[in-house]
Amino acid sequence: MERLDKRLASTGRWSRKEVKELIRQGRVLVNGVPAARPEDKVGDGDRLLVDGQEVDCAPFVYVMMHKPAGILSATEDRRQKTVVDLLPEELQRRGLFPVGRLDKDTTGLLILTDDGAMAHELLSPKKHVDKVYLARVEGKIDASDVDALARGMELSDGLKCLPAGLEPLEDGSRCLVTLREGKYHQVKRMLAARGKPVLELKRLSMGGLVLDEALEPGQWRFLEAAETAKLRDRAAHLNFLGEMNKKT
Ligand code: URA
Repeated sequence: MERLDKRLASTGRWSRKEVKELIRQGRVLVNGVPAARPEDKVGDGDRLLVDGQEVDCAPFVYVMMHKPAGILSATEDRRQKTVVDLLPEELQRRGLFPVGRLDKDTTGLLILTDDGAMAHELLSPKKHVDKVYLARVEGKIDASDVDALARGMELSDGLKCLPAGLEPLEDGSRCLVTLREGKYHQVKRMLAARGKPVLELKRLSMGGLVLDEALEPGQWRFLEAAETAKLRDRAAHLNFLGEMNKKT
């Protein structure tokens, strides 16, 4: 059991002060009854509603962000702004961190969470979570580039890449790249090695989770229950595959 105000504030949606005000205004119901005091105790079996909407007090928070260019994918930096700086204070206090990194000039889908186990599952290179990027390149992508990525490239420093998907769009100056791993500057390095340097890069999806195009660069939203379930299922599925591989 924990204090009602603490539990509601832990969702990151309201500060403790705002929760107190919601309770005072009678907008918080506990099991259908207006909450009386912020210090009332609630447990996992209690149903909490704010303004008639059920509040998910799950222990972890998951956020989808449209990362803008010019911002670091890090939790903190002494000199430069990070993606965590774009979140409200309540979420920053929860210690959310980005699941994987995008380069400073890369835009698009970034998941932030405080669920370390889930992040680990999604990031582990062994788990093969597909990430799809939209790239604009200098020159035109052709069939030989598609072939080279499909075979799995070896870069000049000896880095061996897993086979990757490449789909030219329109006249070939833009393309979709699908990676199953996330090595440093990987898309840029693979395409540069093909003589098609990347001019712009945006991540569109990760493990079946697609960037919500209603989000402008710099905007974020909580994942919807179905999206969190998708991530959770994905993590559970990957875990299961991992266990099976260990046994075989
Ligand atoms: N590949 C890159 O080169 N940069 C990113 O930000 C992500 C993938």
